Amino acid sequence: MPRLLPALLLALAAISLPALAQDADEVICMDCHEPAEDWEGLSADEILADAKDLSNKRHADNADFTDEQLKAMIAEIMPAGE
Ligand code: HEC
Repeated sequence: MPRLLPALLLALAAISLPALAQDADEVICMDCHEPAEDWEGLSADEILADAKDLSNKRHADNADFTDEQLKAMIAEIMPAGE
């Protein structure tokens, strides 16, 4: 059993390190959205307004973020050209 420990730790590191390194790419919106398709023609302000519309129950997690964080995420994944 103890022999498994190093392997387990390595596996954990392999999983968590890239996740940490990619922090900026971990935009939760991508769980549900394909920005280039979903948000074509929307401005960043419109996307932000929709993201904060908590009457959309799928957006409940968005309440965990500040406007600034949401804006940063949106800026990162917005379809090009805006
Ligand atoms: C748990 C899934 C989920 C997550 C995570 C999520 N959304 Fe949505 N979002 C939806 C659903 C469902 C709709 C409404 C259905 C639809 O029309 O696609 C929607 C609608 C929208 C719309 C209106 C345009 C459209 O696509 O219909 C915008 C803009 C939007 N979301 C932005 C965001 C942003 C920005 C984030 C990240 C901060 C985010 N969403 C995270 C599920 C999600």
